[in-house]
Amino acid sequence: MSDITGGLVWHLRALRARTGLWQTFRDDVERWLANWQPKSSSLVIIGPSAGWCLPFSFLSRFTQIHCVDIDPLASPLFDFVHGRSLRRAGVTITWSREDFFAAPARILSAYPASAVLLSNVAGQRCFQLKDSQATEQSLKDVREALAGRDWASFHDRLSAPGFNVLPVREWSEQINGVQILERYGLGGEWLDHLTGDILPASVTRRIIPWRFSSERVHLVEAGIGTIYPPS
Ligand SMILES: C[S@@+](CC[C@H](N)C(=O)[O-])C[C@H]1O[C@@H](n2cnc3c(N)ncnc32)[C@H](O)[C@@H]1O
Repeated sequence: MSDITGGLVWHLRALRARTGLWQTFRDDVERWLANWQPKSSSLVIIGPSAGWCLPFSFLSRFTQIHCVDIDPLASPLFDFVHGRSLRRAGVTITWSREDFFAAPARILSAYPASAVLLSNVAGQRCFQLKDSQATEQSLKDVREALAGRDWASFHDRLSAPGFNVLPVREWSEQINGVQILERYGLGGEWLDHLTGDILPASVTRRIIPWRFSSERVHLVEAGIGTIYPPS
């Protein structure tokens, strides 16, 4: 498989799998997003791709959505998947093709009042940098840029060859990859996407298994990153 998402192969796979193999994952993401109730009516989505896994029930809650994705196919295909229904719902969509990780603070500063969704993008960083320390530092920069925001992220945490059917699990403490695998009773070699520190330590996190293909399974972690100041 190609580890980098985006590009024609990714989109063709998504088009095929969306209502088949990925349906359970999409339903689970929709249920998780329903729990996130940011106060803002505007949203920045980092890495929306075509929104293959993003539900209308969530997107239509906002009046303005700004999408940041380096993939040139993301915008026209997002329009193909969601354009008509979101326009009917009165949602305005704008796009940028900037590399978010190159300047997260600057990119977000243009949308100071918006909530932010990292849309299955943080787990891609390890493929772009290919160096674990640099990846962890880059994700730390993202988390710092998000301080004080309403934000949420779902991201690859671990992935491996296989076709396991696994349940959604949730816990309220930060645990490492080995502990996740122990809790699932899984063994073998897994790829660690180095996203273990992106969510603040104290937040509840949910593992949403994603049967990506008939040969590969991902454990996607989802959490609401907002830390509200004590009132
Ligand atoms: C796994 S896909 C997201 C899928 C999306 N959640 C969906 O529902 O279709 C990750 C996306 O992040 C984008 N991406 C990866 N690195 C990026 C970066 N540095 N800046 C902006 N977008 C990036 C890719 O182009 C890809 O579209």
